[in-house]
Amino acid sequence: MSGHVYLIGFMGSGKSTVGAILSERLGLPLIDMDERVQRESGMTIAEIFALDGERRFRQLESAVLTAAAAESPSVVACGGGVVLDPINRRRLCATGIVVYLHTTPEETRRRISDVASRPLLAQGTEGVAELFVVREALYEEIADITVETVGAAPEDVAEQIVEAIGSRDG
Ligand code: S3P
Repeated sequence: MSGHVYLIGFMGSGKSTVGAILSERLGLPLIDMDERVQRESGMTIAEIFALDGERRFRQLESAVLTAAAAESPSVVACGGGVVLDPINRRRLCATGIVVYLHTTPEETRRRISDVASRPLLAQGTEGVAELFVVREALYEEIADITVETVGAAPEDVAEQIVEAIGSRDG
């Protein structure tokens, strides 16, 4: 397998958790984009949104993706909004396999109780549902592999991805 394995999907779809399992299974380093943005800016995501705004966050996120894409093959747990920028979408498709972890807004609410760390979830049920609809179209547009995560354990999701990548390579 050449290139990265990019995990995309809505907040709470399990990108970081599945990414950690997958990186072990595939023997590839794990890059967590949200973690990198926070490390490089010295701020939490909530602080970036509150002090500098979402636009600034998106710039930092795109810069992290550009740097990550140039590194040796890795599993990359992307931020949920990385697909908003068409340049990011092209970069993802050009430099790896894009794996969409599907979830639902309801499941996201069940999984994430701490909305303080996810500023975009603080906008209420309707706002989150609208956000989901816009995002879903973009995730589907660039996905090479789609895996359902509702009702599935992270280990099973990782296993399905390993199999799907194997059958693509085979
Ligand atoms: C965001 C998702 C978050 C984080 C930021 C914005 C989004 O990442 O990047 O709060 O726009 O969907 P996770 O998907 O890892 O929660």
